[in-house]
Amino acid sequence: MGEIPKALREKVHKGLKLLVITGAGISAESGVPTFRGEDGLWKRYRAEDLATPWAFERDPKLVWEWYNWRREIIAKAEPNAGHRAIAEMEALFPNFFLITQNVDGLHRRAGNHKLMEIHGNLWLVRCTREGAVWENHEVPLKEIPPRCGRCGALLRPHVVWFGESLDPENLRLAYQLLKGCEVLLVVGTSGVVQPVASFPWEAKRHGAYVVEVNIEPTPITRISDLFLKGKASEILPVFLNELKDCLLSRSN
Ligand code: OAD
Repeated sequence: MGEIPKALREKVHKGLKLLVITGAGISAESGVPTFRGEDGLWKRYRAEDLATPWAFERDPKLVWEWYNWRREIIAKAEPNAGHRAIAEMEALFPNFFLITQNVDGLHRRAGNHKLMEIHGNLWLVRCTREGAVWENHEVPLKEIPPRCGRCGALLRPHVVWFGESLDPENLRLAYQLLKGCEVLLVVGTSGVVQPVASFPWEAKRHGAYVVEVNIEPTPITRISDLFLKGKASEILPVFLNELKDCLLSRSN
């Protein structure tokens, strides 16, 4: 990665409204499988069988076995240099916010606090009768499918499945952030799952400078002002240093 373009350098100041959107690609180097691409989960499994409310109704044991398997992988994973660089961006810019599509919780573990897990979190469970949500870190799960200790109803992962709506409060905040951000950094997403896939267009429409980090071009690349091709864990620490450098040159 060379020096960042002058147009971006000029935008960087302490008060920069920086919005970051991440997808499965940022966790790939932590050993968490992505969904699409050669080794993607949706090459080996059908989303219809595992990640829809109908699949859960039909076979909750199968759905939970799949989530249990993913929880086992994620429990062993550590945040990588890409996650850590994004956590440092939060510390650097007071007007920072992160929207992640990932349910693995690795951003939180890396130190991000100002974040929205827009597709939920795999370490939260929800009672299908009462709707209560709580943390569950049991790996492997003792009982599959797990049941609510209070009312005996089935528990489900507190994630958003295909065919379900996103939390309207989250969506309201997301559109507010997209409208106000000056720089949007999009990392490791294939940009095909709505509504998040349309977020870069929304930010661009409101004048944001769009930076994309990915190992290959995506539909978002077309509207990106800067496309940084490569692995998130390699690109993001360099990009972070560039941002720091801009801040330093501002204060001199
Ligand atoms: P995808 O698996 O669709 O896309 C992963 C993206 O990461 C691809 O564009 C890859 O090229 C890129 N990538 C892979 N390794 C990378 C690396 N080391 N550094 C940078 N980029 C890399 O994942 P998402 O876009 O997150 O939804 O998928 C969106 C949603 O689809 C997920 O949240 C999930 C899934 O079905 C739900 O479960 C609702």
